[in-house]
Amino acid sequence: MKENVSQSPPPIVRNRFERVRELFTKHVIPSYGRFELVLSHGVGSHLFDVNGRRYLDLGGGIAVCSLGHAHPAITEALVEQSSKLVHVSNLYYTEPQGRLAEALVDLIGPGKCFFSNSGAEANEGLFKLARKFGHDEGRFEIITATNSFHGRTLAGIAATGQDKVKKGFEPMVSGFRHVPYNDLASMRRAISPATAAIMIEGIQGEGGVTPATPEYLLGLRALCDEKKLLLLMDGVQCGHFRSGRFQSFQRILEGVPGGEKFLPDGVSMAKSLGGGFPMGAFWVRAPYADLLSAGTHGTTYGGSPLACAVALRILDVIDEEKLAENARLIGDFLCEGLEQIAKNYPQYVKTVRGMGLMLGFELAPDIASLAVEGKMPSSLLASRLQEEGLLVIPAGQNVLRLLPPLNLSRGDAEEGLIMLERVIAKLGA
Ligand SMILES: Cc1ncc(COP(=O)(O)O)c(C=O)c1O
Repeated sequence: MKENVSQSPPPIVRNRFERVRELFTKHVIPSYGRFELVLSHGVGSHLFDVNGRRYLDLGGGIAVCSLGHAHPAITEALVEQSSKLVHVSNLYYTEPQGRLAEALVDLIGPGKCFFSNSGAEANEGLFKLARKFGHDEGRFEIITATNSFHGRTLAGIAATGQDKVKKGFEPMVSGFRHVPYNDLASMRRAISPATAAIMIEGIQGEGGVTPATPEYLLGLRALCDEKKLLLLMDGVQCGHFRSGRFQSFQRILEGVPGGEKFLPDGVSMAKSLGGGFPMGAFWVRAPYADLLSAGTHGTTYGGSPLACAVALRILDVIDEEKLAENARLIGDFLCEGLEQIAKNYPQYVKTVRGMGLMLGFELAPDIASLAVEGKMPSSLLASRLQEEGLLVIPAGQNVLRLLPPLNLSRGDAEEGLIMLERVIAKLGA
């Protein structure tokens, strides 16, 4: 971030910013491109940097902070559960894990859950499920979509339909192929005798906020039934009520004939599930729920009493405060505001996409003020928004994403739109 002269921090604070930066330069592996911002604390939908400057956080830790920052219910659940039991391993039963599995099954459909520590691990579990499912017939292949994102493990990058995550890490784990998203005919053509499963995101996130069409989802279900394949949905980013329903496929298929009966065979979850406490999970539909039998899959930390107590409390707050409805209402409000900005500045904003509180807008190509050799226009705009006091997340070259807390208020949404329009209006200057 360029230093704003009017808000120049006193030297002692400036030193703190530089000291933290220096620690990273010296000691942290530089695998991330980071914004020039050292954050110190947060409250609700706002974050504060070490200079004391306040930012409206519409990135939500990349769709993680479902209840915003420093929510008292999360603090309370952490304190309460950690004073009883933090961890015991999966050699034993604990009540919070059982209760959370029950809650997730109630929200998706008849089946069972496994708990992991991240989204990539949740997807790994589903990849293993697919291999186990196809094993006796020699089937192992999983088809995913172009522009998808499924995590950074070796299988995750092989599954991801974007070359940039694979580069330098070849040879890829075998058995993954990609076909264009929302293109049922391509998917049908890609199926081979070795195919065991299809995995897609209900709304592609990293790929630029692109929802699946209802026809695609229903078509994939029919195709998987016909060819005896597992239909796996990656709900890591688009799940957990972000769309206005627990899973995005439930929202996309609302009111669509046949939609109410739709169920995938596996769903991965993470991010908003733990609201910032690292955890992941995957659900498997009833007929396949016992395929991963004792000894076939595991993790030391997954489903700890602490993680599950936090996730259960988040589900309670979402229910008590009607946050699914809030995601719809505030999402619609934000979406209309973005569409108005796109109408006012068609030379800068090409399209607005998404649903609920998972929204993205695509920049027009060739915006002269965002053309800097070696830099993505989306990142350059995100930096300018940061200077204005607004945090958003780039998705690829030209898309910016809004993934705010599910309890974002209308006032905060209005503030965000005003800041956004102010910065976009100046793109020609
Ligand atoms: C759709 C999707 N799947 C998987 C992942 C990987 O999750 P994690 O970073 O928790 O491993 C992400 C992360 O952004 C994601 O967006």
